[in-house]
This record gives sequence, C-alpha cells and structure tokens, in this order.
Amino acid sequence: MTTQKDSSRRSGLPGWAYFSPELFELECHELFRTHWQYVCHVSEVSQPGRYATLDIGTERGLVICGNDGTLRGFHNLCRHRGSRVVTGRQGLCRRAVVCPYHGWVYNLDGSLRGIARSETFPRLDASKWGLKPIELEEWNGLVFVRFGYGPQPGVGRLLAPFAAEVAPYDIRNMVSANCDYQDETNANWKAVRDVDNEGYHVPQAHPALHDLYGKHYVDEPYVDYVSRSVGQFNQEPGTFWSVKNYRKILPIPEHLPPTHRNLWLYLGLFPNFVLGLYPDSVIFYQELPISAGRTIQRGGVLRYRDETRQMRVARYLSGRIDRETSEEDRMLTVWAAEATRSSAYDGIILSDLETGIRSHHDHLRKVLPVLLHETEPRGVALAEANRAARRKHDYSLGQP
Ligand code: FES
Ligand SMILES: [Fe+2]
Repeated sequence: MTTQKDSSRRSGLPGWAYFSPELFELECHELFRTHWQYVCHVSEVSQPGRYATLDIGTERGLVICGNDGTLRGFHNLCRHRGSRVVTGRQGLCRRAVVCPYHGWVYNLDGSLRGIARSETFPRLDASKWGLKPIELEEWNGLVFVRFGYGPQPGVGRLLAPFAAEVAPYDIRNMVSANCDYQDETNANWKAVRDVDNEGYHVPQAHPALHDLYGKHYVDEPYVDYVSRSVGQFNQEPGTFWSVKNYRKILPIPEHLPPTHRNLWLYLGLFPNFVLGLYPDSVIFYQELPISAGRTIQRGGVLRYRDETRQMRVARYLSGRIDRETSEEDRMLTVWAAEATRSSAYDGIILSDLETGIRSHHDHLRKVLPVLLHETEPRGVALAEANRAARRKHDYSLGQP
C-alpha cells in the first residue's frame, strides 16, 4: 500500500528512472502490458472488418469489428511466424484478415480460417491457432485494451466517479475529426508525463493557455489511477489572437450544464492517457514509449457529429491553442530529461501545485517499488530488485 509518507514525498522519482534501459523493460512488462491502453473511438471501427491498431512498449494490439458488430481485441501477431496481420493505424479487412507474409487467413472473430499450402504443415487444430485475444472495454465510445492481467479494475469502474460529469458530452456519438498526430520526443515517457501533470508552469511557459484559463486552473491528484484537472476560463475575454477569437466564436454549448460551458476539463488515466473535454470537442493524448530515451506522444480530436460551422471554427481555435502549448512543452520535457544525466543533478523538489506529479509518482512507486532506490540497483536484475522491494514495502498487485 502507498504510505502516508509516500504521498507527501516532494523529491520525485530518482534520476536513473528517466534513462535506465532495464527499467524501461520492466515498465513494458509491469506497466504498459498490465494497464488499460486507449486504442480508438468506436466510430472508427463501427463496420465489420474495420480495425485500429496500437503499438505500446513491446506489445502490438488490434481492435476489429466482427460480422456480428462485436468489437474484439487481439494481439496483432500471426500465429505462423509472428508477422503483423494488419498494417497501419487503421483500415478495413474485407471478409477476412489475411496475413501479408504467407497468407494465413483469419475470420473477423479471430478464428483461423485457412493456411496457405496447408498440406506442408503437420495437422493443426484450427480452434487452437486463432489470433490471441486481449481484454477490451468500451467506455463512453472510447475503446481500451489490456494485454495482460493487471492491478487496475475495468475502465468503467476506474472512471465511475466521473461518469455523471462526462455523460453530457455524449462522447459515444462523436466522430473522429481525422487529425490524429504522433510526435516523437527525445525524452523518457515519464518526463513527457511530468510536464503534463502539473499546471504550475502555465503562467510562465504557456502565455496563451494562461490567457484562456490561467487564473482558475486547478490540478487534482491521481487517486485510484485517475486524476482530474480543470481550467475555468478567465473572466477577461483574452488578449491572444487565438484565445480572444475562441472565446468570441464559441457558441453556447447548450448540451453542457452551465458549470461546464466555459471550462476545459482533463481526466488522466494512469499511467499514460489524458482525455480533454472541451465545450467544442473532446481531445485525447497518450505517451507511447519506444525506448528509455524516446517517446511518441500520440493524440487526436473527436468532434460532434452534427457540428455547426461556428463550432468547427471554435474547434480549430482550441486546437491552435493546444498546438502552441505542446510546442512550448516540447523543450521543457527534453531539458528535464537531459538534466537527470548531468553531474549537477541531485533530484527535484515539488510544490503543492505539483500534486499531479507527486501522486503519479506515488502510483508508479506502488507498481514499481524499485523506484524507491535513489540509485539504480547494480549487480542484480532490476526485476528481482523490484520483487524484493515489493516484499519489503508490502505493495500488493494481486495475481501476476
Ligand atoms: S507469418 Fe503470417 S502467414 Fe506466415
Ligand atoms: Fe505544459
């Protein structure tokens, strides 16, 4: 269990956590494989054969709509020699999934339909050679998968405290605005997340965002894997071109309660996903780690199906504010990650305004108690050091 002492920590994770290749391997296994990962919106996979993919850590996931309209999750891995069975971020398999390597054919429900030159193989029981399933859960039209058993309950249960607040946005009936992006950064994924987990830097580093909601921005900590942050718009109309026009053009979103008409709301799902609920759109972003020192930040936008022209312009302007903000964050992230390798680095100190980082690190220490070591354990496999730390600190993760 996370102790009181842990939750009041001000020192953050040790520097080695941001560049250790061995820790990266452990994170792939104990974090990204075992915690829910966002793949796509239901509208992107609503027709039989439509699929979306997600690569995360060492895993490759595939979500595909069956002939019965059911969404299923699988490893994107052919049972013959391990090829991807589908390519790209999304696409359409007409009638069947055909592996691009040697042409094994799978039904849309994942079962094996046929093997090219089957007479050259020993007799295989087709019922045992289908695509390997993974857990899938849809929440408000957002499709998540999980590759292995993990400590989190289902997505619906995790986000239950926010269900009533999210309901009026009607995310399930939205559609992709077709502006997904993937940006690569030379920094550990936790450095990317740290920057996003606190609003303390907004007045200094994000002038436009500060102009939009800087006076009333509040971060709430991660509690049971979920965090919430709220930016209520400033009373003043804004001085930045994008902010001023966004505020002027944004129609009154009648579908939202008055409390949420002038507000950007963010829900963070541990460890690496954020949903942003705006009056004009819903956005998401997610860190996809490639190695200890490289991360893809993936994101996208959902829009209202019957979006008016005015709302579309407002969405363009909110996107513009967001793009400026991410550009400003980029260097801050790289600098923070670089610093952990400097001879001058002796850790960080966190303020009360950085509660998002503190609670995120607490969650990480719960899953990976080896992070309590100030220096990287040497002479012993990190996974073993983590098991020892877990025994010592009585962290419980349930079944492996
Ligand atoms: S790897 Fe898929 S058919 Fe050979
Ligand atoms: Fe930022």
